[in-house]
Amino acid sequence: MPKNDVSLSVIKRLPRYYRFLGEMKKNGLQRISSSELSKRMGFTASQIRQDLNCFGGFGQQGYGYNVSQLYAEIGKILGVNKKAKTVLIGAGNLGRAVAAHMSFEERGFNLIGIFDRNEALAGQLVRGLPIRQISGLYDFCRENAPTVAVLCIPSESAAEVTQELVNLGVKGFWNFTHYDISANYPGVAVENVHLSDSLMTLSYHLNNL
Ligand code: NAI
Repeated sequence: MPKNDVSLSVIKRLPRYYRFLGEMKKNGLQRISSSELSKRMGFTASQIRQDLNCFGGFGQQGYGYNVSQLYAEIGKILGVNKKAKTVLIGAGNLGRAVAAHMSFEERGFNLIGIFDRNEALAGQLVRGLPIRQISGLYDFCRENAPTVAVLCIPSESAAEVTQELVNLGVKGFWNFTHYDISANYPGVAVENVHLSDSLMTLSYHLNNL
C-alpha cells in the first residue's frame, strides 16, 4: 500500500505507468526490464525503480517487472477497481463531451447522474443517462449518496453548487471551472483540469525550441 509521504510528482506519474502497462498487456507482453520500460516511457530506469519502490518495489532482480502484475498493483494503488458514485453537473458542451467520452468505469468511478439547470435539456440522454433538473439534486444525493462530482458549469455557479454538494457528502471534485475549491474546502479531494494551461505549456515549449 502507498505510504502517506509519497510525493505528488510520483502520484502524478502513476496514471502514465498504468496507461503504458495497459498497452503492453494488450499487446501480449508478459515482462519488461526497468531499462526497457524507461525507454518506452521516457523516464530514467532509476526514476522508475525509485517511483515503484515507494509502493514496495514489484520488480525482481534479473527478471524485471511482470507486466500484468505491475498493471494490477498500480491499478489498485490508483483505486481503479473502486466504483465511486459520481454525478456530473452542467450538461453543456463540455459536460456532454466529458460524460460521453470518459471511461469512468475503467478509472474507478461510476457515473450515476447528470444534472443541469436548463429545463430544455431535461430527459435528454447522455451516455444512456437522462439529464436531470438541478432542483432534484438534493433528493437524488440523499437517495444515492454519490461521493464525487464533476463540475462543468460556469465558474460563477460553482461556489453555490460546491457548497450544496459538500453538504450532501461529496468528497471529491473533478473541477473544470476556475472556482478554487481547495481554498474553500481543504478537506475534500480536488483535481483541477485546465486544458488552456496545457495549451499554454505547449506554447512555451514551441517558443523555446
Ligand atoms: P455551456 O454553456 O455549454 O454549458 C454550461 C452548462 O451548465 C449549461 O448547460 C448550463 O445550463 C449549466 N449550468 C449553469 N449553471 C448551472 C447550475 N447552477 N447548476 C446546473 N447547471 C448549470 O459551457 P461549456 O462550454 O460546457 O463550459 C462549461 C464550463 O467549463 C465553463 O465554466 C467553462 O469555462 C469551463 N471550461 C473549462 C475547460 C477546462 O479545460 N477546464 C474547457 C472548456 C470549458
